[in-house]
Amino acid sequence: MASTATHTVPHHVAIVMDGNGRWATRRYLPRVAGHKKGVDALRACVRHCGNRGIKVLTVFAFSSENWNRPADEVSGLMDLLGVALAREIPALKAEGVRVHFVGDRSKLSEKVRAGLAAAEASTASNSRLIFNICFNYGGRWDIAQAAARLAAEGKPIDEQSLDACLGLSHVPDPDLLIRTGGERRLSNFLLWQSAYAELYFSDKLWPEFDDAALDAAIADYAQRERRFGKTSEQLVRPVPKVA
Ligand code: IPE
Ligand code: IPE
Ligand code: MG
Repeated sequence: MASTATHTVPHHVAIVMDGNGRWATRRYLPRVAGHKKGVDALRACVRHCGNRGIKVLTVFAFSSENWNRPADEVSGLMDLLGVALAREIPALKAEGVRVHFVGDRSKLSEKVRAGLAAAEASTASNSRLIFNICFNYGGRWDIAQAAARLAAEGKPIDEQSLDACLGLSHVPDPDLLIRTGGERRLSNFLLWQSAYAELYFSDKLWPEFDDAALDAAIADYAQRERRFGKTSEQLVRPVPKVA
């Protein structure tokens, strides 16, 4: 869906929460300890987004490729998702946050799937902040599943119809895409939807990405000129059409 942002505060912020493992390793802790700390950072981030007037937050929590990690880290992440859901959902519900999960649920256990559905159902009437958690998500998976759905229904495949079948069809495209942890790549996140997102890279590891760091990203975004293919002059003063 096309972006609607016209303000200095982005309407939709997307985050690749990277750096949990390094945060833990530097402290001689197991990687899963970094992911636990990452949940704390995410809790604070959701709250701060709401307070700053951001309307949609989309985070990358587990990629299609993260299955390739050591088995104990993968199972640790699955367990952490279950624990975090049980612990965090009541507060999110009270704070007006609506939770959506985006990704391929078919490979998740029955128990995890039930947890996701319950979290979505219990926050479904909220609207202060839409919080999308991309779990077992990949941008290529998203585009392929949308195309497959249209093909199965015998519908034409064009930009609009494909967009409507993507995992984030319920929200406008991200305005600001942040990646923490120092890497400058998308790692298969929101490939279609980031077409015109402003990119912001932070060297902070995700567990260290605090309110001030998010404010710095928002301030940086406010300085950007979003041209969407037009010229600067057109944005300042629309060029009159030549008859
Ligand atoms: C991101 O942190 C979280 C997930 C991928 C689940 P990492 O675990 O990738 O942390 P680094 O990049 O190894 O430090
Ligand atoms: C991207 O981080 C995925 C998530 C943050 C969930 P990765 O750590 O998996 O990305 P790469 O492997 O460094 O590209
Ligand atoms: Mg990483």
